[in-house]
Amino acid sequence: MYNNNHRQRGFSMKKNAFVTGADRGLGYSLTEVLLENDYRVFAGRYMKDWPWLDRLKEKHGDDLYLVDLDISDTASVKRAAESIKIETDSLDLLINNAAIVGPEENNLAIFEDVDIDKILRVYNVNTLGALRVTHALIDLVLNSRDKLIVNISSEAGSIARCWRTGEYGYCMSKAALNMQSAILHNSIREKGGQVLVVHPGWMQTYMQGVRNDKADFPPEKSASDIYKLIQRKDEFKGDKPVFIDHLGNLWPW
Ligand SMILES: NC(=O)c1ccc[n+]([C@@H]2O[C@H](COP(=O)([O-])OP(=O)(O)OC[C@H]3O[C@@H](n4cnc5c(N)ncnc54)[C@H](OP(=O)(O)O)[C@@H]3O)[C@@H](O)[C@H]2O)c1
Repeated sequence: MYNNNHRQRGFSMKKNAFVTGADRGLGYSLTEVLLENDYRVFAGRYMKDWPWLDRLKEKHGDDLYLVDLDISDTASVKRAAESIKIETDSLDLLINNAAIVGPEENNLAIFEDVDIDKILRVYNVNTLGALRVTHALIDLVLNSRDKLIVNISSEAGSIARCWRTGEYGYCMSKAALNMQSAILHNSIREKGGQVLVVHPGWMQTYMQGVRNDKADFPPEKSASDIYKLIQRKDEFKGDKPVFIDHLGNLWPW
């Protein structure tokens, strides 16, 4: 049952959310949109020198709680979870957003160029990173009202619609994230939990290190769309999780 204790810790009745990889790109935009819509947001900070979250903190004060977080590092995830647990005992929304493309993945690498060690790094962030975070915080999610986990995946993770001839690491890491989401959904649905797997669209973000202005739209647009999906979450509730794009269109696994 939903536990009200966190409300006695001096905070408001706002819902709590945790967003990983919140420094820039989609994670930052999701943090912003949630703050504007009455969430208290725990934002995972990976880039200590990137100033956007500090500016957002000046604007939103105690509604934004910055948490140092490297999702590839189990100790870092544990520390982040502990610092969140000091502040609250419930998370209505967990968004596993942080991910990397990996330096070898900028081109459609021919098979001979595949670098297994670099792919391991991509897997460790994109797939195991989300699992680490969810594992560390699932009790808080299940102790909340909404019990919602949003895993930011990609069209690149769809096996049914695979068209690439390279980018093994990124595509495999997202396909495995999709499987992770399905298992997780199965294991929490009877407790009222739910997982949404979302392809956010091709966004003008920093996955290549610099902002990709050639992409279809800015991350603010995707974040606003994803926020609407979060509000419609009950429509997507069922025995199986759904894999959808930011507009709510179904994607094949
Ligand atoms: N951009 C697209 O078109 C697109 C398309 C489909 C899916 N997606 C997905 O959308 C999500 C957000 O990506 P984005 O486009 O917003 O990328 P982004 O601009 O690179 O933002 C991702 C953020 O996560 C951080 N991060 C990297 N490694 C981390 C780690 N180990 N622990 C914690 N944070 C870490 C990044 O820091 P650094 O910049 O230092 O790496 C960056 O601040 C990802 O899951 C991505 O796969 C993106």
